[in-house]
Amino acid sequence: MTVEPTVLAFETSCDETAVAVVRGTRPLSNVLSSQVDLHSRFGGVVPEVAARAHVEAIRSLTHRALSEAGVHPDDLDGVAATQGPGLVGALLVGFSFAKATAWARQLPFVGVDHMEGHLFAPRLEFDEFQPPAVVVLASGGHSQIVHMRDWGDYEVLGRTIDDAAGEAFDKLARFMGLGYPGGPAIDLASSNGDPATVRFPRALGEDRYNLSFSGLKTSVVTFIKNASSANELPPLADVAASVQEAIVDALVGKTFNAVDDTGAEMVGGGGGVLANRRLRVRMQEEADRRGIRLVLPSPLLCTDNAAMIGAAGSHWLSQGTYTAWDGQVDPSMSLDF
Ligand code: KG4
Ligand code: ZN
Repeated sequence: MTVEPTVLAFETSCDETAVAVVRGTRPLSNVLSSQVDLHSRFGGVVPEVAARAHVEAIRSLTHRALSEAGVHPDDLDGVAATQGPGLVGALLVGFSFAKATAWARQLPFVGVDHMEGHLFAPRLEFDEFQPPAVVVLASGGHSQIVHMRDWGDYEVLGRTIDDAAGEAFDKLARFMGLGYPGGPAIDLASSNGDPATVRFPRALGEDRYNLSFSGLKTSVVTFIKNASSANELPPLADVAASVQEAIVDALVGKTFNAVDDTGAEMVGGGGGVLANRRLRVRMQEEADRRGIRLVLPSPLLCTDNAAMIGAAGSHWLSQGTYTAWDGQVDPSMSLDF
């Protein structure tokens, strides 16, 4: 296997059907079909609907990814697909399609941990992003503070003990009538808001790395109900900015606890929540204060995509690490087990 294999990569763990071609860690194409419109009327992802939509989209997206990359299937060195974590039916579509493609073309195949994909995302744009590093991963399903000692050597220092950060954004936005997905909606609604309007609780202050968002949810719901019935509800922008600040504070605080404790000089991030404008500003301020490097993927590479799966896949294929043909999806796959 060459050092920079050309890899066809698939990501179907949740509600985006995504296909990319990467060479090493450089994306040659990165296409996706979002299912947001299909799920928005349900206020969340419906697993069966997601799986069916993946089936419908994956073939034509694969053609598009190859043609946009200008790569003929004969020129591929390998195939990668998300193996887990995620929705089992959704994962099966991309994983099986990828395996079949690899088998038919006699190409090596590797299954990739979705969260490891997010860890590789900063590499797509920044060559200098290398371990050791502390990386905050925050998405709709996961929130983790990871000490990345080396590629493949990950210690999950902290995780959420209840809701993921993106889930908190989504649930609170729904309660506030801001729509789905909630993260971008709260980000936008907060634009001219004052984050100091309401001081919502920051959970687990005594714990250095773990996160919790369920108390925040209760507190916001109680606040809005009480303030509404007393006719004292502050402007929506101020409430949204205050909610956002509480989530951002928690993520930034725990991430930089890990940075301080490990002595890391490189900080990264990934997952949809890292697209949040306020979070990016606050992370940069903390990194600047310490004189260390912060590397965040551009927003479209923070959210789910197949280029990040391709970058991780290309790394493992170049090391000779393949997944057996009878390998299965693993909906509860975890970085450190
Ligand atoms: O990584 P991702 O695309 O999918 C999962 O693996 O879950 O993350 C989706 C999550 C959603 O909860 C969404 O509300 C959140 O990322 N998100 C944001 C923003 N953009 C997406 N959260 C806060 N601010 C944003 N700008
Ligand atoms: Zn994700």
